[in-house]
Amino acid sequence: MAAGKGTRMKSRLPKVLHRLAGRSLVQHVVDTAAELQARQVVLVTGHGAIEVEAHLAQSTRPGAPFNTKFVRQEPQLGTGHAVMQAVPCLADDGMVVVLSGDVPLTRADTLRQLLAASGGSRLALLTIDFADPTGYGRIVRDGDVVQAIVEHKDASPAQRQITEVYSGIMAVPARMLKGWLGRLDTHNAQGEYYLTDIVKFAVADGVPVVAHRIDDPMEVAGVNSPVQLAELERAWQKKVAVQLMTDGVRLADPARLDVRGTLTCAQDVAIDVNCVFEGQVSLGEGVTIGANCVIINACIAAGAVIHPFTHIEGGAPGSKDAVEVGTGALVGPFARLRPGARLGEQVHIGNFVEVKNSTLAYLGDAVVGERVNYGAGSITANYDGAFKHRTTIEADVHVGSNCVLIAPVTIGAGGTVGGGSTITKDTLPGALTVARGKQVSIPNWKRPRK
Ligand code: UD1
Ligand code: CA
Repeated sequence: MAAGKGTRMKSRLPKVLHRLAGRSLVQHVVDTAAELQARQVVLVTGHGAIEVEAHLAQSTRPGAPFNTKFVRQEPQLGTGHAVMQAVPCLADDGMVVVLSGDVPLTRADTLRQLLAASGGSRLALLTIDFADPTGYGRIVRDGDVVQAIVEHKDASPAQRQITEVYSGIMAVPARMLKGWLGRLDTHNAQGEYYLTDIVKFAVADGVPVVAHRIDDPMEVAGVNSPVQLAELERAWQKKVAVQLMTDGVRLADPARLDVRGTLTCAQDVAIDVNCVFEGQVSLGEGVTIGANCVIINACIAAGAVIHPFTHIEGGAPGSKDAVEVGTGALVGPFARLRPGARLGEQVHIGNFVEVKNSTLAYLGDAVVGERVNYGAGSITANYDGAFKHRTTIEADVHVGSNCVLIAPVTIGAGGTVGGGSTITKDTLPGALTVARGKQVSIPNWKRPRK
């Protein structure tokens, strides 16, 4: 269900498209369904339907194990009405898991347990105890047996004392669901079709209703406001940080780390404060990340040191735009590695160096060998106005500061290029090459006078 308005977000963007840990809320829910090996995902859209559908159509990975269908709910007459819109898409022999597009952090394992509780023949409700259950549907039991869900606004004072609430998530055999949806009405405090009313139909039909009670509120927390979105983001990031530390990663401050994707760390990785990791990032053994780095899609090999304020942005792992930092490389502070940057072993990239496109220093279309020392302010002039050409800097080269290497050109292994040189021809391995005006001094020089 993703048709609701999300008024309290006070945003033009549909609520379910706001991001948590780098992914839209609704994408989290769809990804969880994928983990369950769902046959299909039916998305009920309404407010912002065009945007939500476009977002999901584009982000659904090719070869996804299920097909995605969209159904529109206009106007929105309640959760029961939302599920009614999906009925034509549901095969009779299936199990339906009802999820909300604004509840992003339910674990697939929890849903598997819910499905197991249903056993393909019962109505299974995911429930939780809240010290303050205000606003939620209450689980009304007779002894142990679930009798009904009563919405807060319809509940009697005695029912409002109940702390076990319906999470908004259920698993139900499709055939039974279809029958019960046809019996819903709007005779309640909110004048809506309540999905939760199917519980009393199940009871009336003698179908067992089971409650699968969990205790982590994060799994069922919905996002209705920017405050809730930020709270859930922090709760999620804390979980990620604790897991990393459990695996041996040393975080200077777990409260100042943001992982918006997958961060894979080998042994003895240390990460200073305020670092952001996006996409797929892997850090080899002993890698150190300084404070305030942003690292997006990169593979950083063992022993590399990324100094503070470095920005690394690679393309998809395995693509030509991937960024790789070699073993023992030193990068930054204030370095910028852009798509396609590949640094060999022990390469040192100094401060304010941009690898790909920059005014201060530029390494474009370059192949950089191992143990290369590349001086501040040096660039590779890769573009002749029509074509781009390649610069090859072989192993153990030392390039002084403020050099211009005009491609196509190769700096031979072990060679040295004097600072300020403009190199237009290949240089010999091991040689010192200087290509700039010779320094002259004219003694007793008389400056012009006014
Ligand atoms: C619902 C449950 C309540 C439960 C609570 C948990 C009902 C009647 N009540 O209440 O028992 O404790 O969730 O959070 O189901 N939606 C649509 N179309 C609609 C109405 C809602 O798509 O016409 C979507 C919303 O966008 C949202 C989800 O359904 O993602 C839940 O709707 P919401 O209004 O939050 O339900 P509650 O009234 O809070
Ligand atoms: Ca709600």
